[in-house]
Amino acid sequence: MNPAQRIYVALDTTDVDRATDFAKTLKGSVGGIKFGKEFFTANGPQGVQQVSAVGMPVFLDLKYHDIPNTVAGAIRAAQPLKPTLIDIHASGGTAMMEAAAQAASEQGSDRPLVLAVTILTSLDDDDLETMGVSDGVNNQVVRLAKLAQDCGIDGVVCSAYEIDAIRKACGLDFKLLVPGIRPKWSVTGDQKRIMTPRQAIDRGADYLVIGRPITKANDPLEAAQRIAEELA
Ligand code: C5P
Repeated sequence: MNPAQRIYVALDTTDVDRATDFAKTLKGSVGGIKFGKEFFTANGPQGVQQVSAVGMPVFLDLKYHDIPNTVAGAIRAAQPLKPTLIDIHASGGTAMMEAAAQAASEQGSDRPLVLAVTILTSLDDDDLETMGVSDGVNNQVVRLAKLAQDCGIDGVVCSAYEIDAIRKACGLDFKLLVPGIRPKWSVTGDQKRIMTPRQAIDRGADYLVIGRPITKANDPLEAAQRIAEELA
């Protein structure tokens, strides 16, 4: 696979027309588009359908975190949007992750891959300490990844720093999707555990999520192409 096809661009906007323009502009240069809470809260499933009509694979990044019945229902409700990737929070626990995996598996060959968010890439060891988790991001991420795999989840969302440890614990088939991606020439913003696209792919990421380095660039297509060249 061309490495640039591993990129899902985060369309973090409330504006459907703007998102559609991004999708049209970037189609062919990246692998897919990602809709998160900002876009979905403003535009709902209709907005997702409108933009994805451009014809790109969709990652529905709503990071479900609720009781098992509710999360399973949300995954069933997402089926008409035909996402290729959908995510939940691993910290929702065993029963929730098993219910999510089951709801996806009922969708047959069209089913989305279900990924579990481990620890957000905007958090570091100090943040976890304030939340009562004292043995560090890396240990907690690996713990949650193993739990997700045991529950039948297809992979996890993690930072590039944890790829090696998760691969050792969960093997090569477990999918790793990595946000917190920053080319050297872009600004960091609120992300903390960041790496460049090249570093993340070299470490073994299956998918990269990239938002602002592309969408806030003066020329988003040029930024995407520059990243593709750095990955080639
Ligand atoms: O603009 P930026 O490249 O930081 O966008 C990253 C995207 O990935 C955002 O849409 C954010 O919600 C999402 N994300 C993340 N960290 C996670 C999971 C998803 O940054 N652990």
